[in-house]
Amino acid sequence: MPLTLTIEKNVPLQPYNSLSLPAQAEFFCAVGSLEDLGEALNFAKKGQLNVTPLGGGSNVVLSGDIAGLVIQLNLLGMSYAIEGAAVQVTFAAGENWHRTVITTLQKGWFGMENLSLIPGNMGAAPIQNIGAYGVELADLFHSLRAMEVATGKVVTFTKAQCQFGYRDSLFKTQCRDQYIILDVTLSLTTEPQVNLSYPALRSAAEGHANYPNLTAIDVSELVMAIRRDKLPDPLNLPNAGSFFKNPVVSAARAADLLLRYPDMPHFAQALSQVKIPAAWLIDQCGFKGAIRGAVGVHSQQALVLVNFGGGTGQQLLALADEISTAVAGRFAIALELEPRVYGPC
Ligand code: EPU
Repeated sequence: MPLTLTIEKNVPLQPYNSLSLPAQAEFFCAVGSLEDLGEALNFAKKGQLNVTPLGGGSNVVLSGDIAGLVIQLNLLGMSYAIEGAAVQVTFAAGENWHRTVITTLQKGWFGMENLSLIPGNMGAAPIQNIGAYGVELADLFHSLRAMEVATGKVVTFTKAQCQFGYRDSLFKTQCRDQYIILDVTLSLTTEPQVNLSYPALRSAAEGHANYPNLTAIDVSELVMAIRRDKLPDPLNLPNAGSFFKNPVVSAARAADLLLRYPDMPHFAQALSQVKIPAAWLIDQCGFKGAIRGAVGVHSQQALVLVNFGGGTGQQLLALADEISTAVAGRFAIALELEPRVYGPC
């Protein structure tokens, strides 16, 4: 088969990241097949270039120009197998996440509805174990295939091997930068069921005409409405969703904080741990709606940093640093960045 790969030099990445940050890739290519990806990795190996894979660009902060080869993953496609009520569906890494949610709902397959409208592509979903409204990718995950950057070998990872945690996986820890995800297989079901465990979703559901018999499509529509209400659309106001992870502290530490802040929202986790919303901590420090030149904190959700236009990654990271310092000073809690930072420190 003739190779179709085109590698360009000094390519602006502004159109490829949802924060609309200015940065250039030293080398850039878009790959639509495993052969193209193999060729791109060979090119990088020969030139001893660093490889940066890019999916939907919705969870990255570009802090400046990216040295080496940026590979945009345009792998597309879907296949599935049905046995009884169990559906196993495989999506290629370049498929838009929300479109895959809609496709499965239209087919009458359930499980993805709470994850409606999350920006980004399928290939990025396992890396940070995306989650929203009471469901996370790990709940639906079966396996994935990935190409090893160093060798071009295709490897399958089971759910256990991925070591999923809260916004975490093997691909953010031990295997960081070592693999490029090719496709993801999910386990869905044809048996109608809905998960309304997340408090904000439950309250919205209680006001719905079909309550208590909501369909998965009703749930998807409710989730979309909540997200549209709280989270800015990156096309109108560039952002990368939550900028920090919600910190998890010991039960003793949470009890201590609750004495001083009885209204603090908190969510019990396994192993006597408690999750505290970073948005609340940031809000308490007075940053909601803060503006620092061309960047700022969203006025409806304190966890979302935005680029009003013309902002840079360095400006956003400086604001993130200002926020973390304030939260650490007041609550003695260290916030951790949620998106991946690419480029110079
Ligand atoms: N809150 C504030 N101030 C704010 C916003 C929220 O005090 O400005 C408080 C609310 O009172 C609420 C709590 O924070 O009790 C939680 O807020 P919300 O339900 O909006 O969720 P979140 O913890 O801020 C997380 C995820 C989101 C996900 C939602 C819904 C992380 C880092 N973020 O946000 O994920 O959509 O829950 O499940 O876990 C993303 O990862 O990019 C993302 C948007």
